[in-house]
Amino acid sequence: MAFSSLDIKGFDYVQHYVGNARHSAYYYARLYGFDIVGYMGPETGVRDRVSYLLNRESLTFTVTAAIVPDHEIHQFISQHGDGIREITFEVVDVYSAFEHAVSKGAEGFKKPFTDKDEHGIMIRGSVKIYGDTILTFVDRSKYQGLLPGYQAYEGPQTKLQDTGLKAVDHIVGNVEEGRMDFWASFFENATDLETFIHFDKGDISTKFSSLVSKVVRSKNTSVRLPINEPADGLKKSQIEEYLDVNYGAGVQHIAIETDDIVSSIRAMRANGVEFISTPASYYEVIGARGDGIDESLAELEELDILIDRDERGYLLQLFTQPVNDRPTLFYEIIQRKGCEGFGQNNFQSLFESIEREQAKRGNL
Ligand code: FE2
Repeated sequence: MAFSSLDIKGFDYVQHYVGNARHSAYYYARLYGFDIVGYMGPETGVRDRVSYLLNRESLTFTVTAAIVPDHEIHQFISQHGDGIREITFEVVDVYSAFEHAVSKGAEGFKKPFTDKDEHGIMIRGSVKIYGDTILTFVDRSKYQGLLPGYQAYEGPQTKLQDTGLKAVDHIVGNVEEGRMDFWASFFENATDLETFIHFDKGDISTKFSSLVSKVVRSKNTSVRLPINEPADGLKKSQIEEYLDVNYGAGVQHIAIETDDIVSSIRAMRANGVEFISTPASYYEVIGARGDGIDESLAELEELDILIDRDERGYLLQLFTQPVNDRPTLFYEIIQRKGCEGFGQNNFQSLFESIEREQAKRGNL
């Protein structure tokens, strides 16, 4: 069977490798509104790691830590710090997706395998992508649970205010200078995605730094993967800072979809999530971008929420501060009202804000 991008149903779970899984589980439960639904560890017969399964609507994270020395998880976090190890596509047929990817040059990481438990059968197979990240194809059509290997979590739920977060919208990778085209072609060939937007030098830049970016997505738009590489600037770009402190390529941010960004951001701020600040001047020069929107501009300004639009509609978005010890991974909260873009007109103010933070860390 030939593999086509239409066989990609969407993003599935995201796996984080972390230093302390229990702490990370509480962080995402309390600040981001996840339910802790599953647990894996010595009590469930797994001797080398502890993992928690977190869920909110279609959004599923696992946070996993090693509990024995010299483990591959330690190697990952020794190199990169806490970060994203695994991203996943839900597909119709894992075998054809995997075989297609490998035939187009992807390096296999784990051949298709089957897990069976009381919830049914799940099939998965993984290939290597940028940095130490793996991409896993998941077939859950015969599986009624969330993920195999986890026992129902019976500890306390520590959720604060609910956040309304519901699904992954896009996952962004930062790759080394000169490697963006390689990875865009990789996803085009190996996973049948197509290039949707290309930002060249000068499209997105401040006085100090700029980036070049390509967005690949499936034809049915169920998955979208922007890929950034650093571009020359007077000072170190945010992509370069990421590559330096992450010691290599990796996932830069995950955009999470909500149906009501005003309530989501209000709840997340109350829960203690830190967001990047938006310059006051942003709303003064918002002009036509703010016309005809359903939300109150004053409320968006109060919460620092950014607006962008294309010919199809508009989107609202806001970016968190980096969530780990190193300034690597962060999140974007996004509400789309027809717009298929990524907030490119906001990148300028985003850049200026990030550069203020970089300057505080002495990395600009
Ligand atoms: Fe984004």
